Amino acid sequence: MIKKYSVKKLLNQGKFLLNKKVLVEGWIRSFRYSIFISLNDGSTIQNLQIVLSTNKLDKIIMKKITIGSSIRVIGIVKKSIGKKQYIELQSLDITIYELVNPKILQKSILQPKRHSFEKLREQAHLRFQTNIFSCIMRIRHHIAFCIHKYFHEHGFFYLHTPIITTSNCEGTGKMFQITTMNLKKNQFIDYEKDFFKCKTYLSVSGQLEAETASLGLGKVYTFGPVFRAENSNTSRHLSEFWMIEPEIAFYHLEENINLAEKFLKFVIRYIVENSMEDLIFLNQCLERWKKKKKNYLLDKLELILKFPFKKISYTETIKILDQEEKKKNIKFSHPIIWGMDLKSEHEQYLVDKYFKKIPVIIFDYPCSIKAFYMRMNNDGKTVRAMDILFPEIGEIIGGSQREERYDMLLQRMKNTNIDFNKLWWYLDTRRFGSVPHSGFGLGFDRLVQFITGMNNIRDVIPFPRTPNNAEF
Ligand code: 4AD
Ligand code: MG
Repeated sequence: MIKKYSVKKLLNQGKFLLNKKVLVEGWIRSFRYSIFISLNDGSTIQNLQIVLSTNKLDKIIMKKITIGSSIRVIGIVKKSIGKKQYIELQSLDITIYELVNPKILQKSILQPKRHSFEKLREQAHLRFQTNIFSCIMRIRHHIAFCIHKYFHEHGFFYLHTPIITTSNCEGTGKMFQITTMNLKKNQFIDYEKDFFKCKTYLSVSGQLEAETASLGLGKVYTFGPVFRAENSNTSRHLSEFWMIEPEIAFYHLEENINLAEKFLKFVIRYIVENSMEDLIFLNQCLERWKKKKKNYLLDKLELILKFPFKKISYTETIKILDQEEKKKNIKFSHPIIWGMDLKSEHEQYLVDKYFKKIPVIIFDYPCSIKAFYMRMNNDGKTVRAMDILFPEIGEIIGGSQREERYDMLLQRMKNTNIDFNKLWWYLDTRRFGSVPHSGFGLGFDRLVQFITGMNNIRDVIPFPRTPNNAEF
């Protein structure tokens, strides 16, 4: 049996495989001078050079070969004469799985030329075969992997929280309803007759369930899809996205903030150390297409690692923005008033201009703009919330210390019109050994977007779900 290699493995181990017979499979990326095939199988951004021989069989193949075609090659590993690669494969036998019709290829994003990201999205089923998207997908994988690695190594347990829920954790924003009933307009709906005997939705967050788990297991985290039905058509919003939510018993806000910073730095360091090849390729694309500076991506990531994140209270933030507006003669379209929700223009100014692209952690927000579960401060006006703002992206993490006092929590639920009868189980945990605890939610796709330098979040998830779009 001839051993099968991925292109990545073959290129990595090439030195030790010289003159050995091996088998590889992949898709043809280019075909030059009627003898050189560049083969890619998705395992790496690098292509393997296949050199066709002049025998009869290869000559027949030569005539047929088209870009995009899938093939299997058996060949001998040789030291390459070309400078681009250390090894190449001298073909002995080629099997074609499927040839691509050049006319069809021409209309597709696999035609080797520059295509816009919008066009790639229209052919989302094919974009895994492009260099740029396969790069992003490999990086996405490594980010997910090292997130699990971080938590596992720090004593967290991975918790699977339900996707189907009856409650809206965040209290704001629309949810997708799920039902097996045939809903007709203007008709009374008896949800007793629905599948779950009540109104159910797709979950916006696993936090409430994660809290209950942390109050027994100590440290837990979730990593799963969440759903939001807001009509947000921005480059940072998806209707279905992935969120990581650690929840830790006996953690105060400061510990929560420190964990978030260490965790983000760990992930970025891991990617810098383990995905360099793909980062370099992305960087080259961004330089060429988006006129980004040389080393833009790597410098950006290094900057995150280099300095401690800035930490300021909401009240200080308002002061800074107000002073900057007066001093520097800038005009925000939303006026700066204590109590306001920060808009992206404010976040951007703060991170990109004021703090020169160093991430900012804002804490102690007014209770009026934050969810019911956040712990009330002694001032009775602010809660122990924290948001982490990243350059380019804005909010990447939202978290808080949770209200662990039964009476306070009940009061907050009442004040914010949360149905505490439905959330009885959440409230109940505050009667069975309640403790200070904290957690946060990291928008996974926003993190991938930041690390890969993509302008649009739709370009970092395999099949984006956004308003008016659920194709593929
Ligand atoms: O700030 P959010 O809404 O926080 C929560 O859901 C809390 N329950 C988290 C917790 O404390 N356990 O969302 C958390 C993060 C945001 O900071 C953002 O990065 C991301 O989720 N996010 C989105 N990402 C993509 N598309 C959307 N529509 C998003 N909405 C939020
Ligand atoms: Mg938030």
